[in-house]
Amino acid sequence: MPAPKNLKILPADNNLIPTMRSFTAALGLGQNCGFCHVPPDFASDENPKKATARFMIQMVNDVNAKFPDGKVHVSCYTCHRGANMPLMAPPAAGGGL
Ligand code: HEC
Ligand code: HEC
Repeated sequence: MPAPKNLKILPADNNLIPTMRSFTAALGLGQNCGFCHVPPDFASDENPKKATARFMIQMVNDVNAKFPDGKVHVSCYTCHRGANMPLMAPPAAGGGL
């Protein structure tokens, strides 16, 4: 992989691609990197989902920084659970439950 040219939040280390894979897993995208990128130009900011994802990374960092034990408790998966749009409410109860 060439050295990253356009990182604003994440560190340019060996975790970058595993982190990217964790995003696709959390959002239920399979290996669809193109959801946030315009492959093969991963440095490009042309895809608006990349800006949303940057905002989300910052939000997750801010929330984790508020935990007094300094550990990571919240990830993309905490809300997304394998979906690109997290649910605001539980699915309607049905089936006599
Ligand atoms: C949910 C959105 C999202 C998905 C899906 C995603 N990325 Fe990213 N990717 C980002 C964001 C946001 C950045 C910039 C992070 C920053 O600014 O610190 C980034 C940065 C990168 C970079 C650094 C580019 C540069 O030169 O600055 C590479 C390489 C990359 N992603 C590869 C991948 C690959 C490979 C996949 C699929 C396995 C993938 N990404 C999936 C959001 C995503
Ligand atoms: C606190 C809950 C929460 C967390 C944590 C979270 N998200 Fe989100 N995310 C949302 C919500 C809610 C939406 C839908 C926003 C809307 O309706 O515009 C969303 C939308 C998105 C979208 C746009 C999806 C689309 O189809 O347009 C992307 C991309 C995304 N999140 C990436 C991430 C990434 C990457 C992470 C981890 C760094 C993350 N999110 C963590 C709540 C969260």
